[in-house]
Amino acid sequence: MSNSIRAIKGLVALVTGGASGLGEATVRRLVQQGASVVICDLPVSNGHKLVEELGEKCAFAAADVTKEKDVLKALDVAKTNFSKLDVAVNCAGIVIGCKTYNFRKGFAHSLEEFSKVVNVNTIGTFNVIRLAAGLMGKNQPDEDGQKGVIINTASIAAFDGQCGQVAYSASKGGIVGMTLPISRDMASDGIRCCTIAPGPFSTSIMMGLPDKVQAQLVNEIPFPKRYGYPDEYAHLVQSIIENPMLNGCTIRIDGALRMRP
Ligand SMILES: NC(=O)c1ccc[n+]([C@@H]2O[C@H](COP(=O)([O-])OP(=O)(O)OC[C@H]3O[C@@H](n4cnc5c(N)ncnc54)[C@H](O)[C@@H]3O)[C@@H](O)[C@H]2O)c1
Repeated sequence: MSNSIRAIKGLVALVTGGASGLGEATVRRLVQQGASVVICDLPVSNGHKLVEELGEKCAFAAADVTKEKDVLKALDVAKTNFSKLDVAVNCAGIVIGCKTYNFRKGFAHSLEEFSKVVNVNTIGTFNVIRLAAGLMGKNQPDEDGQKGVIINTASIAAFDGQCGQVAYSASKGGIVGMTLPISRDMASDGIRCCTIAPGPFSTSIMMGLPDKVQAQLVNEIPFPKRYGYPDEYAHLVQSIIENPMLNGCTIRIDGALRMRP
């Protein structure tokens, strides 16, 4: 029986939004498995602190994912510190809540806010993908011909977006939509692309919701009846890296939750 499972040890990864929540859990798991990791997050984030804690296997690149020059600098950090890039994990993201039109108060969804969410979540993700692919393309292919793996973070809101989630759902739907064509674009160069669509996980994004909304959400999760732990997301990132047949797909990790309107 042939064993095609890829080892994490020795890989170099870049994790956007890596200073908090799902990204931070991914950084911790990849380092623990023997990878070197560039934490790519905003200058105001906890990135430096995390590097101090995790040591020389980690580097921090202060970057806004929507800016080309910031992302190029972050890729330079990977090249300079660890000499290559094998994996890019896109976790940077923001969320807002606003209806398409507020009939009670008589105003339409702000176009500026809509654009901001799409800019960070969708365009920021694509910005990292397109630039990271250039660096991965320089790798020597492994025995399967693989040079790299890209993993994005959508949300189950891409499929069952609730009232007030129009901007967020659109931004995450864009990530789901780009997954297959990106994997096709890069297939001949041995770079895979997958997306994870999480349900509610216990990070600052969710903990900021009112208690009543949180309780309602948890109550609707069939099993297990709780928020996901960030390391459960990170474990799926690890599985995608390890399993070369995972490509061009979006995987839900949500305890079978299908959100109500
Ligand atoms: N937590 C959940 O329940 C949940 C569910 C579904 C999807 N998600 C998605 O998972 C991803 C991670 O979310 P989280 O829960 O860990 O949130 P989080 O707020 O803990 O982490 C998000 C990180 O992204 C960084 N970030 C924001 N804008 C950025 C930018 N322009 N450039 C670089 N970094 C930026 C933030 O500084 C932060 O460190 C997000 O894309 C989110 O939409 C989360």
